[in-house]
Amino acid sequence: MADQEFDVIVIGSGPGGYVCAIRAAQLGLKTACVEYEQSLGGTCLNVGCIPSKALLQSSEHYAHTLHDLAKHGVKAEKVSLDLPTMLGRKDEVVKGLTQGIAGLFKKNKVTWLKGRGSFVDATTVKVTAADGSATTYKTKHAVIATGSKPIEIPPAKFDRKLIISSTGALKLPEVPKHLIVIGGGVIGLEMGSVWLRLGAKVTVIEAMSTILPGLDSDLTKGLLKILQREGMNFHLDTKLTATSTGKDSVTATCVKPDGSTLEIKGDRMLVAVGRRANTEGLGLENLGLSLEAGGKVPVDSHLRTSVANVWGIGDVIKGPMLAHKAEDEGIAVAERIAGQAGHVNYEAIPWVVYTWPELASVGISEDAAKQQGLNVKVGKFPFLANGRAKALGNTDGFVKIVADAKTDRIVGAHILGPNASELIAELAVAVEFGASAEDIARSTHAHPTLAECVKEAALGVDKRSIHI
Ligand code: NAI
Repeated sequence: MADQEFDVIVIGSGPGGYVCAIRAAQLGLKTACVEYEQSLGGTCLNVGCIPSKALLQSSEHYAHTLHDLAKHGVKAEKVSLDLPTMLGRKDEVVKGLTQGIAGLFKKNKVTWLKGRGSFVDATTVKVTAADGSATTYKTKHAVIATGSKPIEIPPAKFDRKLIISSTGALKLPEVPKHLIVIGGGVIGLEMGSVWLRLGAKVTVIEAMSTILPGLDSDLTKGLLKILQREGMNFHLDTKLTATSTGKDSVTATCVKPDGSTLEIKGDRMLVAVGRRANTEGLGLENLGLSLEAGGKVPVDSHLRTSVANVWGIGDVIKGPMLAHKAEDEGIAVAERIAGQAGHVNYEAIPWVVYTWPELASVGISEDAAKQQGLNVKVGKFPFLANGRAKALGNTDGFVKIVADAKTDRIVGAHILGPNASELIAELAVAVEFGASAEDIARSTHAHPTLAECVKEAALGVDKRSIHI
């Protein structure tokens, strides 16, 4: 096969694209991945999951040192913030991981085609480099993994100084005095938490009547109360209608359902009202592909577009915009291209929001179960009654398990509390394996661990929790 010919070309190197490329190469396919940014890894590694988690961790250390260490008998005097070091550490974390992907590409013999990929036709991909030079490559299969970008809304166009997206919120050079956050979704709450902990006043404007719409309402109500206690301000049922900016100020004009208006003045505004698929300039028209409602690339249940050798994965197609969903789709597509039966179980994809405490969820919520007319039993156990949580000093929240009333099969599990992001893995496996609450209840969980709350919630489905 000539150098310019591949079995698979993946366009985009985010968690969907790079994982797909590595899996395809593992399966013996000659694979290339097209990426125009200077580093691999897409939004997740460069300006999303990883840098935000680095800042969440650092800001948590800062807030913990200021407010909590004294309770443990540890006196820390003259604590101060070194923001440049904090931001520098975040950049180092990103650098290490993105270089790691370049290393994995080398090891697996995946070719990085540097430039913007677009379709000439179904078997020809053009890669246009930063200097404008273009090269075309032939491929048997192509995978669209171009991800998404922040939605820009007319009342608050990004100026990248006062009005910023999630990318800007990762590199503010100073702690804002008052950060206005538009959108009480995942990004708004995570990045709002970072700057709140570092000393900013934070006000969240959310159009719906709840934060994190769509997640189990027990969890979201619980998290709202805790964030309010920590000092985050919320205006729910409030929609941004206009923004005005001064030299170093920004004012949000908002409307409430009763028609009354509200003005909030701050010095920075983070707009986090969702993301939209990246499809511009891909040449989809050359494939005869048109986008579905919401601007996403249409695919069938095997993640194949209507063009037989062109596939789609991750944020650019339907479903939740989550890195791990994209990764699993990438693996499934690579395996399908190789003639295997790759598959993603969308019922068992966990959600995690990295606030403090963390919120994690898998399967359906109790509210959704009721709306669907499912007869369910619910077991709930608070961290307050768990020995390890007490020892840690982190007793906020609970584990909630929703099981089918007749079969006892776990249909959903929801955690608000310390290490929820790690605890949910057990329950995601339970949903994947079709486990019953009784299966979890009868599995030995080490003592003392936070995971005992999972077991106790499972016991609670049958009203036989021990420690409450
Ligand atoms: P989101 O969809 O999570 O939340 C956006 C929020 O903005 C919604 O609650 C919506 O009701 C509200 N909203 C929309 N228009 C508004 C207006 N004009 N005024 C006030 N509120 C308004 O979107 P977000 O936070 O931007 O995140 C985008 C995507 O990134 C999400 O779909 C998420 O899956 C992904 N993500 C996931 C993370 C994780 O898994 N931990 C972390 C960060 C992002």
